Amino acid sequence: MDFQWYPGHMTKAKRQMQEDIKLIDLVIELVDARAPESSRNPDINELGRQKARLILLNKADLADQEKSRQWKAYFRGRGFLVVELDARNKKRMKEIQDAILLSCREKIERDRKRGIKNRPVRAMVVGIPNVGKSTFINSFAGKACTKTGNKPGVTKGKQWIRLNKNVELLDTPGILWPKFDDRSVGMRLAWIGSMNDSLLNTEELSLELIRFLTAFYPGVLAARYQLEEDGGDAQTAAPEILGEIARNRNCIRTGGEIDFGRAAALLIEEFRSGRLGRITLEEPDAI
Ligand code: G4P
Repeated sequence: MDFQWYPGHMTKAKRQMQEDIKLIDLVIELVDARAPESSRNPDINELGRQKARLILLNKADLADQEKSRQWKAYFRGRGFLVVELDARNKKRMKEIQDAILLSCREKIERDRKRGIKNRPVRAMVVGIPNVGKSTFINSFAGKACTKTGNKPGVTKGKQWIRLNKNVELLDTPGILWPKFDDRSVGMRLAWIGSMNDSLLNTEELSLELIRFLTAFYPGVLAARYQLEEDGGDAQTAAPEILGEIARNRNCIRTGGEIDFGRAAALLIEEFRSGRLGRITLEEPDAI
């Protein structure tokens, strides 16, 4: 499967982000907790140089809790502040505000020494497609905040969401593009829905997902689709398992032929929505 994916509008998005980043103090980077490394774009380290950084392990409700703990330790070990999150949950937002202020403490202290008081921290949200950027901005901004724009020193037309007297958020997220040479990274991004599905071969994706799950989360498929077993040689067994899933979910064409395409789409959808359970697709190399 060819994972080449660099639409032209990403070049424009990168240029826009380079401009926007000049206006802010803090980069809030959302990654998908199920694939925290694959869902990052390494260029953000260059783009966000000299800015405070906060990583949100979003969709943590779908990820393996033990693996999320390992990922938090991994990123902390590299000097990032990290918070696990379900961006749909508005209740956690106070905690995020605290993390924002903590990650910008050096800037706040610098301002204080220079006699600047009450200058809010400015932040922007960045991440690859589908990691939850818009959901986060909506939850975080809530109803209480007011939008501000066209202030002196702010590029005309930029909208800032004033969260409170301490924090302002740029209302449009920075869209990063997935970046990888490795096929397995492309595969993970496709499974979590961060690639354009129309470019992908759903059946191949689902067979690879079956191979991954039988190797790393044995029993999950068997329990969900009442399979006889999902162990054995997953390489050769994957098409058979997909066939069993199809039969279990009645993905059968008129005439009795198995509809592998429909079963494949169903499996991927059930994985994405967490119906297969909490699953993380990669582990940190070393902490
Ligand atoms: P983006 O701006 O980064 O592209 O992502 P967006 O907020 O549009 O979120 C993509 C999908 O992920 C949405 O689902 C959203 O509801 C879901 N989502 C975001 N954050 C979380 C989270 O922490 N946990 C879970 N489980 N889901 C999350 P959708 O199906 O595309 O839309 P909708 O039907 O939910 O509106």
